[in-house]
Amino acid sequence: MKEKIDSIREKLLSELEEINDLKSLNDLKVLYMGKKGPISELSSMMGSLSIEEKKEFGKALNDLKNEVNNLLDTKKNTLEEAELNKRLENEKIDITLPSTKLHVGGVHPITKVIDEVEELFISMGYDVVEGPEIEQDLYNFEKLNLPKGHPARDSQDSFYITEEMLLRTQTSSVQARTMEANKEKTPIRMICPGKTYRRDNDDATHSHQFHQIEGLVIDENISLADLKGTLEIFAKKMFGEDRVIRFRPSFFPFTEPSIEVDVTCFKCGGVGCPLCKGTGWIEILGAGMVHPNVLRDNGYDPEKYTGFAFGIGPERVAMLKYGINDIRNFYTNDVRFLNDFNRVIGGDNDASK
Ligand code: DAH
Repeated sequence: MKEKIDSIREKLLSELEEINDLKSLNDLKVLYMGKKGPISELSSMMGSLSIEEKKEFGKALNDLKNEVNNLLDTKKNTLEEAELNKRLENEKIDITLPSTKLHVGGVHPITKVIDEVEELFISMGYDVVEGPEIEQDLYNFEKLNLPKGHPARDSQDSFYITEEMLLRTQTSSVQARTMEANKEKTPIRMICPGKTYRRDNDDATHSHQFHQIEGLVIDENISLADLKGTLEIFAKKMFGEDRVIRFRPSFFPFTEPSIEVDVTCFKCGGVGCPLCKGTGWIEILGAGMVHPNVLRDNGYDPEKYTGFAFGIGPERVAMLKYGINDIRNFYTNDVRFLNDFNRVIGGDNDASK
């Protein structure tokens, strides 16, 4: 018996030497440990032995079983490790290879300006709201103190679809909508960025479709000083920390008083240069205190509530900020223009480098 056990061990050891893959190893395992294998065969011979012999032989057979299992397991581990190493070697990436340039889409300059303005006003507690581009005359004009026949309508030559419907000429329409929706709840603090349309002939400074960002704040005790403080923060964020603003009287039907806001020229710092046409000031937006008629027509008691409004032109801001001198560049989608704002990852102008 002992010889048989030894010869099984010897044979297994030599056969294991030859095995180089997991499949053959598994076959070998079935061969040795299976029902028809040499170990089972020895077990079945136990019946004919004496009790003494059974004890001795049983133990030796058990030891053999354990040993065979261990040998097979150890071989399995070795093969698996070798296989893993081979795979890792094959899949190795050479990170020292130079990368290929990857072109990704860029953020359009107008979107960039809108994003920046949204971020600023959200940080000051404003909501960002939207309104329809196909608008009722009611919200675009009438509820903004611009009744039918009002001469100020002429300055906003409109695309009418029917008598009552038009492409909105200004995001100010969303002032009326927001007040109406809030039903005299305060405070209202909102900005509304969006597209606007006018029957203008396109040239370097006019476009039949452009953008506005409306701003509206309504509460008790809102004053012109609040407007000034707010717009100063805006001017500094968009045009630089050292900027100072000034108000000039103006006229908009929905505000009283109405103002135009200038910022000190960010190119020359206010001494005068071609950008600011020698004045040291650049006009950036229109604003004012919400007209009592507008408050009343939209459900707010003008004796109790006051508010301010402003209208930012993202095209104008982008043109000033990025030195663009033709508004049509924003819409013709010439990639040479847009590429100035794009990022090429891994390329020479990769901003992340
Ligand atoms: N909607 C005005 C325009 O298109 C811009 C504007 C001016 C909006 C003053 C305002 C404002 O809210 O207060 O010319």
